Amino acid sequence: MEKYVINGGNKLYGNVEIQTAKNAVLPILAAAVLTDGGVTVLNVPRISDVNNMVKILARLGCKTTFEGDNLYIDSSNADCCEIPSELAHELRSSVFLLGSIISRFQRAKIAYPGGCDIGLRPVDLHLTGLKRLGVQITERNGYILCKCEKLRGNEIMLDCPSVGATENIMLAAVKAEGTTVIKNSAREPEIEDLQKFLNVIGAKVSGAGSGTIVIEGVKTLRGGVFQPIHDRIEAGTFLVAGAMCGGEVEVDCACAENLSSLLHKLRENGCNIGIKNDKIILESNRRLTSVKTIETQPYPGFPTDLQAQMTALCCICSGQSIITENLFETRFKYVPELRKMGADITVINRSAFVRGVDRFKGASVTAYDLRGGAALVLAGLAAEGRSEILNISHIDRGYGSFEYKLRSLGADIVRMTV
Ligand code: UD1
Repeated sequence: MEKYVINGGNKLYGNVEIQTAKNAVLPILAAAVLTDGGVTVLNVPRISDVNNMVKILARLGCKTTFEGDNLYIDSSNADCCEIPSELAHELRSSVFLLGSIISRFQRAKIAYPGGCDIGLRPVDLHLTGLKRLGVQITERNGYILCKCEKLRGNEIMLDCPSVGATENIMLAAVKAEGTTVIKNSAREPEIEDLQKFLNVIGAKVSGAGSGTIVIEGVKTLRGGVFQPIHDRIEAGTFLVAGAMCGGEVEVDCACAENLSSLLHKLRENGCNIGIKNDKIILESNRRLTSVKTIETQPYPGFPTDLQAQMTALCCICSGQSIITENLFETRFKYVPELRKMGADITVINRSAFVRGVDRFKGASVTAYDLRGGAALVLAGLAAEGRSEILNISHIDRGYGSFEYKLRSLGADIVRMTV
């Protein structure tokens, strides 16, 4: 077990390079199972979610090799269509493999997925979509069992624009017979990136980003080399860190367009934000003012993955804020921890009511999920005195070299064994 120890109060200055997006890389790795041609994914982030996905690919019989940060996947000898519970529980995104595995083997057996404990996270939309493509599904002893004679394209209307369901259905449809149309599909930039990758390896996918995705099934796919987009959530986390600690932080390799809902709120807080090509520069040199409301929404609305970090910021602004979480029902687990640091927050149903205090005070707190854990680190950096953040394996799921990057900005943070 490891923890972060932070001596708070330092302003942050400098630039930080943003990693390749976790949520783009994971479905692309799942897609690599679809083709016998080798796939190289460039600049893969060294985070535990990726390590777990690589373990699952190996279990399926794929050969995976890292050359530096580039990951080569050769699926030509894949021979297993089952993901056992110990692997699936490590990683929720293992469910994305359902579409790829069923496409490849016409059978799949996968344990119910794990990942962050941030609510029910059902997979009904994934399964309904796959059924529309001809997959027969039964659920037994914690496993989802799928089989099909042949995948056939169809029209699928999603009840809500689920990121994972959209990706899973895309992966199953790529080699199905005929055309698949996914309506009310998620519009996240990572979906557009998956479309790009699939087209690089020979698929015919269009419409990602528009809400309707059209996939014309192809018989074969080839190999390819791909650089996925950068991580808008990591970029957003560093920008919020800059806002909370004061100073001037430049995030490099960040697409401002993909972060516009966050930048809009940070400007409302009183931060100065400049954009130069793929760099976003945030300057924060006085006490910030609260934004009245933040509501998480599917893209292009405010991302649920930045909700915890923004709530931490609101805690030390002047004034009051209401932050409403519309996507995942238990995404306020970090709130009692922030209270230990002096925050004044009340959660009622899906909303956190925040009354700004002057500053956080150092405390010993525990991370219960990935983004909530990141929010606690930011609070520790902005706090007066010493903090320790326990259970940081949650944070390692999504942030590569987190403490190194923060130290390069001037933060006093070290990783220690408990
Ligand atoms: C993905 C992201 C995650 C992010 C989330 C929302 C990855 C690896 N993870 O998660 O970081 O927080 O998008 O932007 O990309 N839902 C159902 N039934 C389903 C599927 C989803 O009701 O079958 C609901 C969920 O409970 C939730 C909403 O749809 O309320 C959005 O979930 P979804 O977009 O599927 O999130 P994930 O793909 O799990």
